[in-house]
Amino acid sequence: MMSQTVQDAINKQIHAELGASYTYLAMSAWCEQHSFTGSARWLRLQSQEEYGHAMRLFDFMLARNARLDLRNLEQPRGEYKTLTEIFETAYEQEKAVSGQIEALYELVFREKAYPAVVQLEWFLNEQVEEEKTCREIVAQLHLIGSDPSGLLEIDRGLGSRAPGVTTKSGQA
Ligand code: FEO
Repeated sequence: MMSQTVQDAINKQIHAELGASYTYLAMSAWCEQHSFTGSARWLRLQSQEEYGHAMRLFDFMLARNARLDLRNLEQPRGEYKTLTEIFETAYEQEKAVSGQIEALYELVFREKAYPAVVQLEWFLNEQVEEEKTCREIVAQLHLIGSDPSGLLEIDRGLGSRAPGVTTKSGQA
């Protein structure tokens, strides 16, 4: 049985992943309402990925016969000024999640919860990819500034994202 400390920490991470899913969903709605339909699609898929991250940990907890402690989700931010602000916020969120995963990894290692260590290695790799993807999108948006044709092109590119793939262009 995993220690209470480990169970609490993983429950907290499940909450964080579901919160990220909810935030991306609100961002997707904003984009759809501002005619950035490609970005809306990308963000909706990202929301689903975050849900998938939560479920990975959820299933792991069940497999370890641990106690799941699902909590209320905060209302996600719904208002943004620009598409760039959306992806800047997403990038900041991903960096924060990376910090959470690293702290969790350190904790489960210290607690000698080795199966959890192995689980979290997947998350460490995933965060490297997610940070990279968001950083590249933000860099592209900074390059084009508020040029409408550039924005539309980026939006179209984001719309080509395929389900289950975490790259900015939608290609593996
Ligand atoms: Fe589940 Fe984007 O971190």
